[in-house]
Amino acid sequence: MEPLEPGKLPTHLAIIMDGNGRWAQQRMLKRIVGHQRGAETIKMVVEQASLLGIKYLTLFAFSSENWSRPAMEVKALMALLKKYIRQETARMMRKNIRYNVIGNRSDLPDDVNATLEDAIRETSGNTGMVLTLALSYGGRQEISMAASRLARDVAAGKIKPDDITMELFSGYLDTGGLPDPDFLIRTSGEMRISNFLLWQLAYTELYFTETYWPDFTINEFHKALADFQSRERRFGKTSDQLLNRGSLLNA
Ligand code: FPP
Repeated sequence: MEPLEPGKLPTHLAIIMDGNGRWAQQRMLKRIVGHQRGAETIKMVVEQASLLGIKYLTLFAFSSENWSRPAMEVKALMALLKKYIRQETARMMRKNIRYNVIGNRSDLPDDVNATLEDAIRETSGNTGMVLTLALSYGGRQEISMAASRLARDVAAGKIKPDDITMELFSGYLDTGGLPDPDFLIRTSGEMRISNFLLWQLAYTELYFTETYWPDFTINEFHKALADFQSRERRFGKTSDQLLNRGSLLNA
């Protein structure tokens, strides 16, 4: 496995878990079997991320567009989600992990929402990693809903238009309180953001692998993190500025 430097891990890791369907179809299996295997990969990644000391892990579990999939698949995914949350909450307690959800919770079936609410409440005192599930989530929807909440506060006189800053706006997003992701992994060879965390990914390092999510192993995970550690994050500055050599060169 790739050696990792503990001090240089992403604080916030986001993942687009893609390729469950193709993984299953390649094996002549039903798509839901791919999702079931995908849920096993989630267990590995959650365990590893928490062991490595990653503070925030955000998983794109169900997009606002995923509702247009065949009803059987949507139903099976919701059932799998509910089973996962129920089964894993005890482990989350042992590992001091706190559940969080972003997205349009009111779109989810009542039983799934109730299970999520229980899990969020039960893990709310945990102080280790924050595991955020993006459910019925879409970045553009999130941004427009944040704008609408902010507009209401402006109309109510709580905020003046001139006081609107990027930081203030960030607080109106579902991710208010979470730092922006440092690193995004997307599996299955697609090189798109797919309406995930559009505002928050502005300076995020992106990593794409051909591997389908059910085949994403612990070795691949470490390889991706090692790749992150080899990158230089400049946030628009020059390398010399980052190394504090700017004054020497400009002299
Ligand atoms: C993409 O595969 C994956 C999803 C639709 C969501 C991820 C869901 C899981 C890993 C299953 C369980 C989730 C939880 C939280 C337990 P795809 O169907 O889009 O694959 P394809 O692009 O190959 O069709």
